[in-house]
Amino acid sequence: MTLAATDLSFAPPEVRQTKLLIDGQWVDSVSGKTFDTINPATEEMIAQVAEGDAADIDLAVKAARKAFETGPWSRMDARDRGILLNRLADLCEQHIDELAALETLDNGKPISDARAADLPLVIDCFRYYAGWADKVEGKTIPVRGPYFCYTRHEPVGVAGQIIPWNFPLLMVAWKWGPALATGCTVVMKPAEQTPLSVLRMAELAMEAGFPPGVINIVNGFGETAGDALVKHPGVDKIAFTGEHRTAQIIMRNAADSLKRLTFELGGKSPNIIFADSDLDAAVEGAYFGLFFNQGQCCCAGSRVFVEENAHGEFIEKMVAKASQRKLGNPFDPETQQGPQVDRNQYDKVLHYINKGKEDGAQCVAGGGVPDGPGYFVEPTVFDGVTDDMAIATDEIFGPVMQVLKFKDAEEVIQRGNNTFYGLAAAVWTRDIGKAHHLAAKLRAGTVWVNCYDVFDAAAPFGGFKMSGQGRELGEYALRNYTEIKTVTVSMDG
Ligand code: NAI
Ligand code: MG
Repeated sequence: MTLAATDLSFAPPEVRQTKLLIDGQWVDSVSGKTFDTINPATEEMIAQVAEGDAADIDLAVKAARKAFETGPWSRMDARDRGILLNRLADLCEQHIDELAALETLDNGKPISDARAADLPLVIDCFRYYAGWADKVEGKTIPVRGPYFCYTRHEPVGVAGQIIPWNFPLLMVAWKWGPALATGCTVVMKPAEQTPLSVLRMAELAMEAGFPPGVINIVNGFGETAGDALVKHPGVDKIAFTGEHRTAQIIMRNAADSLKRLTFELGGKSPNIIFADSDLDAAVEGAYFGLFFNQGQCCCAGSRVFVEENAHGEFIEKMVAKASQRKLGNPFDPETQQGPQVDRNQYDKVLHYINKGKEDGAQCVAGGGVPDGPGYFVEPTVFDGVTDDMAIATDEIFGPVMQVLKFKDAEEVIQRGNNTFYGLAAAVWTRDIGKAHHLAAKLRAGTVWVNCYDVFDAAAPFGGFKMSGQGRELGEYALRNYTEIKTVTVSMDG
């Protein structure tokens, strides 16, 4: 297979910002070091970005603390915080093409996805949390005695936010939205693979009028900048999205200061297709649910369980679709699949493709890589997968689908749950009783019925088991960024 379109001459967006944002100033790192960010479609350097480490984190945390405790932000009315978030959403809308192009340049995702999926979700998320800013309310509580007792939901303080590279701007929105709505200040470390769109977003936040120190950005690596953020005593809370192994390290490192932690981690989500489903819709949902974003989704439906008597037809249809998927230049509006984000992820995906073949699964679509530069991997489908194979147990995070057969509902519930992950699941059936039964029994933070990857800023998202801790989005995410204070006032005259 060769690339459908190798013309990468589409005008790349201008890279305007490569520094660190600390206390409202764009600065070089204390060490003066920089690192390269790479275009995954060409393997060429896009820009050199300031590389922060512990010294820069310390400056950023001090700025965030000052902004939280004594700056204009600490005195700002809640409704005005909402106005600022709405202004940021408006600026994102005005710059939607530029932001989408930066996302495509740095991450490799097709421009059509960045423009039609990532950015609209980002804008919607900021607007959703703008609406919450002045609606975070406590209670009055009828205690015994002559006391007036009430609760205040106060901001937790300085939030350290560590995000991955698969949806850089969307992760910014999920993290900043509830943090800023509740009045926290933020020190964010973007993923080292994809800093550029986050930096442009931070420029827009400054333009929107967030006071200095409310939003700080320290680019850098996990083991240095990320590590320092987790250990810094001036940080009250860490919100992290990424690999569960990283979350384990973060939890250990956060123990000394007993930081509040929320995690949104990986998955091996079961997508369960019954023979009584609308099979064409199920094929479409399974295809989208796995191949979207080059398979680099925490909730990717990577274990596709198909009921025995629908299996043959499913495979035939899925192979046809996967083989037609258009791989190529992510700036071509016709492209459906771009490269994996970097060499590490590319190597990891190829390792699992080889492992699947070695372990005896049948590779019925893809399985190779196209000629030419870039971290492209063909859309791949494995049939004849069994539960114990590495491709059925491990998160591959690439365009590799595992198809497994099942006989009945109770069996597939048990097998679907037989994983330490619990992020998402889906069920395809026309039997409404069966759908609700499975929705109740599947141990996952999200269950989609006759759909997949339906996201909304109002609907909570997160994991059971080792897929996470706490929930992002919706009203639930406000809890991650608030402390409850009980105030008791004597009413004795
Ligand atoms: P990762 O978990 O190492 O990286 C995510 C973020 O954490 C990055 O900003 C990174 O710099 C930071 N980080 C790394 N080590 C850290 C540490 N010791 N302390 C503080 N921060 C640290 O994920 P990575 O290495 O990019 O990808 C590995 C695998 O993780 C992927 O193949 C995929 O399976 C999974 N993953 C899951 C994601 C999700 O959305 N749940 C997103 C990205 C990766
Ligand atoms: Mg890592």
